[in-house]
Amino acid sequence: MSVTFNNASVDLSSLYSDPSANALALFFNFASGRCYHAADPLLDQLQVNEPQKSWTGHSWVTVNRFGFETASLGTNWAVDSFVKTLDDKSSVLDIGAGYGAISKAAIKSGAKVVSNDLALEHLLWLRGQVDVEEKTRLYLNTGRFPDLDIAPESLTHISAHRVFHFLSGSELELGLANCFKWLKPGGMFLGVAMSATHVRFRDAFYPEYEQRKDSGGRWPGEWLDVATHLPEQLHALPDKLHVFTPDKLADEVTKAGFTIAQSNFISLKQFGKSDEGRDGKEAVGFIAFKVPDPAASTRV
Ligand SMILES: C[S@@+](CC[C@H](N)C(=O)[O-])C[C@H]1O[C@@H](n2cnc3c(N)ncnc32)[C@H](O)[C@@H]1O
Repeated sequence: MSVTFNNASVDLSSLYSDPSANALALFFNFASGRCYHAADPLLDQLQVNEPQKSWTGHSWVTVNRFGFETASLGTNWAVDSFVKTLDDKSSVLDIGAGYGAISKAAIKSGAKVVSNDLALEHLLWLRGQVDVEEKTRLYLNTGRFPDLDIAPESLTHISAHRVFHFLSGSELELGLANCFKWLKPGGMFLGVAMSATHVRFRDAFYPEYEQRKDSGGRWPGEWLDVATHLPEQLHALPDKLHVFTPDKLADEVTKAGFTIAQSNFISLKQFGKSDEGRDGKEAVGFIAFKVPDPAASTRV
């Protein structure tokens, strides 16, 4: 059986016999940037293995060296605030969804969900976790944020949980502007990213961050060298990360036109080792809104 994606033909039989990273990578190349309806029976043919646990055993490792799945309900004020506003009238984009904890919660609320991630393997795992009816409301999108093909004002909610730290400052600026464009007026926006004051590199890196900020640097957290500051996680992370303070991230979100409702640290204590000394400042996050322009309704 062969299938056509982007005018090229893929022989799925090779994928069935070798449901490994290579076969999936091939499929991903054809699928790149496309959006799949999770109810498409074609996707039943692609097998995905259970994700690998991290070295602490508390999270799952991504297949593409983009960190760990840490989105969870009941331990993270930003995720909890976001999820409780969802219902069957919501249309949600989950950027960098990973194995899809936030997408799954959104689907369970009755919402329509576009789950976006670079790794199709992650999205296929999520697809395997939802039932037949839920698949009809789920779309799998393998585009690279910020360049996603999303219609303006088509979404009520956007989540970007632990993906901004993989972007340069200029990519983030474009991404925030796109999120503002994609949301309907009144829409809600959640963002969480790696903190510049994580205990593992607070003393070694934060003084440099402050220095760059004081000398007028627009992106003082660009970049943290992973081999130097988080060597034991290098196997599961890119070589460098863009780290933030709550205020810096909130400022950039405000510049993009959003109104911040809440901005603070987010604890990822439960994902570390008990002797690591985590203090609850491992990540930073915000909840923001695209507040409708009051003048818009009176304009002719
Ligand atoms: C640290 S994981 C976060 C997963 C999940 N959101 C969570 O917080 O548990 C980051 C995810 O973002 C995806 N990713 C990285 N850069 C991306 C980009 N530019 N566009 C879309 N996805 C991206 C990776 O494939 C990875 O699955």
